[in-house]
Amino acid sequence: MHSAAQISTISYCSLEGIALNQIKITRKDMGSNSIKQLPQPAKKAEFEDKFGLFGDSQAILQVIEIIEQVAPTNIAVLLIGESGTGKEVVARAIQGKSQRKDRPFIVVNCAAIPEGILESELFGHEKGAFTGAIGIRKGYFELADGGTIFLDEIGEMPLNTQSKLLRILEGGQFMRVGGSETRTVDVRVIAATNRNLEEAVRKEEFRHDLFFRLNAVKIVLPPLRERKSDIRKLSNKFAQDFCRENKIEFQGFTEQAFEILENHHWPGNIRELKNQIESMIVLEKGQRINEQNIRKYIPVDFYAERNMPIPLKKSPEQAERELIYSALLDLKHEIVELRQIILERIFPSRQLPTWSSHFPATYSEEEVIPKENGDHSQTMDDMEKNLILEALRRNGGSKRKAAKQLNISERTLYRKIKEYDLPY
Ligand SMILES: Nc1ncnc2c1ncn2[C@@H]1O[C@H](COP(=O)(O)OP(=O)(O)OP(=O)(O)O)[C@@H](O)[C@H]1O
Ligand SMILES: [Mg+2]
Repeated sequence: MHSAAQISTISYCSLEGIALNQIKITRKDMGSNSIKQLPQPAKKAEFEDKFGLFGDSQAILQVIEIIEQVAPTNIAVLLIGESGTGKEVVARAIQGKSQRKDRPFIVVNCAAIPEGILESELFGHEKGAFTGAIGIRKGYFELADGGTIFLDEIGEMPLNTQSKLLRILEGGQFMRVGGSETRTVDVRVIAATNRNLEEAVRKEEFRHDLFFRLNAVKIVLPPLRERKSDIRKLSNKFAQDFCRENKIEFQGFTEQAFEILENHHWPGNIRELKNQIESMIVLEKGQRINEQNIRKYIPVDFYAERNMPIPLKKSPEQAERELIYSALLDLKHEIVELRQIILERIFPSRQLPTWSSHFPATYSEEEVIPKENGDHSQTMDDMEKNLILEALRRNGGSKRKAAKQLNISERTLYRKIKEYDLPY
C-alpha cells in the first residue's frame, strides 16, 4: 500500500555510480523538496477547473503540491500508478503549470507502438533509412521541441531505444534513424508506468542509469481503493458532467449507494468509476441510484470485502452470515457471467442483457443448442474480439491484467484493440 508519505517522494539519487552532480537540476532550482503545506482551496479549484484533477484525499492534495513544485523546472518526472489512476491527467497538469504550457504536449504510448518502429516514431528517420522510408520524417521529440513529451508505459520501451532516450535526457541530443547529424531539442520528459521498474532493472529489461534519472522525481498515484475519500466527489462530478452533456435529469445517489461505491475494488480505477457511473445513469434512466439498483452493476465484491474488518455494531454471527451470503451472491454472479459468455459465443449477434436481477435463471434448450442450420457465422475474428472484450471488462479496463489473463503481450493487446476498434 502506498502511504501518503510515499506520494510526496521527491528523491535525488547518487546510486550505483551516478553522481549527484550528473543530475543537472539542483534542489535550489525546485525550491524546497519538502511538502510544506497542503494546497489552499483556490489552488485546488484551479486544478479542478483547468486540469480536471479532482479529489479531496491527502494523496491528491500532496500530488497537487508536488506538481506546483516540479512544474516550473525541466526535471524529468516519473508517474507511477495502476491503469486509470490519472497519470495522464497529472502529466497534463505539470505541462499546464509550466512555462511550456503553450508549446506542444505529445503523448506516446510505448506499449502501443510496435517495437520495430518506436525508435523512428520518437526520433524520426532520414530518407531510405529502412524499407518504406520514402522521405524524411520528424519524430515526436522534434515535434515536441519547446514542450513536453509524455512517455506512457515507459517500462515497455526496448533497451536500445532506452539508451537513446537517456542521451536526450542528458543533453537534448539525438540522431534520426539512418542519419548521421546530431540534433538538439529542448523537450521535457514525463514518463509513466504501472510496472515495477526496480524489478525490470533487476531483470535487466530496463537500464538502471535511465531508471535513476527518471526516478529523480517520482509521483505515486495510489489506486482508487486506497483513496476512498475521493470516490464521492469523483462520482458526483462524473454524474454532473455526463448529465449536463446529455441533458439528463438525475436524481442522485443514496448514502448506501455511495458506501457501495466506496467499498468496491475498482481494478480499473478512476476510468472504471467514470464508465460505471455513466452507464448506471443511462440504464437507470436518471432514477436515484440506491442500494438495490446499484447491485446490478456492482455485484458484491467478496474478495475485496472479506478482508474488511467486522464492523463493531454487527455481531460475529451476523457478519459471518453476511460473508456467506456475499460469497453465494458472488458465485451466482460468476455462473450468470459464464452463461452469458457461452450464449454470446453461440448467438454473437443477439443483444443479451448484462447481469442483473432480471436476468433469466434458466434457458430453454432451443436457446442454448444451436439448430442444425442455425447461424454459425461467428468467425475466428469475432471470437477473438469477444474474448478480448471480455478480458478487458473483467479487469476493469486494465490492459496489463487483461493481457496477462489472455496470455498475450500488452503490445499485442494494444494492437488488437486498435484492429477491432474496441472502446478501451
Ligand atoms: N483526479 C482526477 N479527477 C478527475 N478525473 C480523473 C482524475 N484522474 C483521472 N481522471 C479521469 O480518469 C480517466 C483515466 O485517467 P488517465 O488517462 O489520466 O489515467 P492513466 O493513469 O493515464 O491510465 P492508463 O494507465 O490506462 O493510461 C480519464 O477519464 C481522466 O479524465
Ligand atoms: Mg495513460
